[in-house]
Amino acid sequence: SLPVENVQQLASKNLKDIPYRYIRPEYQTDEVSVDESSQLPVIDMNKLASGSMEYQTEMSKLHQACKEWGFFQLTNHGGATEIEKTKVAAEEFFKLPLEEKMVCAQQPHINLEGYGQSNVFLDDQKLDWSDMLLLFTLPVFARNKNIWPNNPTSFRSALEDYSRELHRICISLYESIAKNLGVDFKEFMNMSQESTQVIRINYYPPCSQADKVVGIGPHSDGSLLTLLVQTNEMEGLQIRKNGKWVPINPLPGAIIVNVGDMMEIMSNGEFRSVEHRAVVNSEKERISIVAFHNPSLEASISPLPDLVKENEAKYKTVKYGDYLKLVFSSRLDGKNVIDNVK
Ligand code: SIN
Ligand code: FE2
Repeated sequence: SLPVENVQQLASKNLKDIPYRYIRPEYQTDEVSVDESSQLPVIDMNKLASGSMEYQTEMSKLHQACKEWGFFQLTNHGGATEIEKTKVAAEEFFKLPLEEKMVCAQQPHINLEGYGQSNVFLDDQKLDWSDMLLLFTLPVFARNKNIWPNNPTSFRSALEDYSRELHRICISLYESIAKNLGVDFKEFMNMSQESTQVIRINYYPPCSQADKVVGIGPHSDGSLLTLLVQTNEMEGLQIRKNGKWVPINPLPGAIIVNVGDMMEIMSNGEFRSVEHRAVVNSEKERISIVAFHNPSLEASISPLPDLVKENEAKYKTVKYGDYLKLVFSSRLDGKNVIDNVK
């Protein structure tokens, strides 16, 4: 990707007029819905355990959430300690002087891993109001420890624990999801092969013209499931529902989970990978920690055979590595990468 200005640095200059490449008139007319019926479903992970009294009710709530919303908030997930440590480490990392953060900088022309800005390919391209730190965390051998922050000193061990916990939570959700779809869990896991995990920490500085910029442009995720937490409970994430943008109000301690394109494909369209974006605040910074849980790069993803028997396959087979290349090279302007495999 082409080097562009660091957004945190740019924001700290307190310019009266921000550079034109960040001004996004295309998003300023979008309707935002603050309707209270638009609260995300909340799933209690304890109740998804087969011994629970509310097992059936919670399982069908989960199924509905994946179908109608493509998003839900997960409580009682058991990862609170690991999440808390990682939030602190992430906050401390972004507080460091730019030179310190640049120790972990993206290597140009290799991939997006490291500290920098995302999805920039053209000299005249519009830009997002955010910086990010992207790290490959699973499988363990894919970790490029040379670009993992050493500062704060707690960062690496916090992220390792975080990676393990979120992976555990995610696998447990796959199990419930497979049951809900009526497919064998082993079959589900065989198709995606050994699951991979990428963690992306987004930093959205405040912006004096917050309503004219976008933190991350609209997109859907290329993952199976994405698990997101943020360092404070402010709004920022918005999801597309019935043509309107719905702001998400994060519950304290909950993980926001969303269905990605790979899950939509494997479920043969039963579940929806929903378009979303992040907006920024005029006074406060926002940090989100996003764990993408993906198939192996070699996995061939298609609708699960058990779900294709009566209705036709709605998607072609795609190698995940090839799909990811499309994701990394696409402009964030809607849910569009998945159209390539229809
Ligand atoms: C993302 O969709 O990648 C991030 C959204 C957020 O920061 O809330
Ligand atoms: Fe996303």
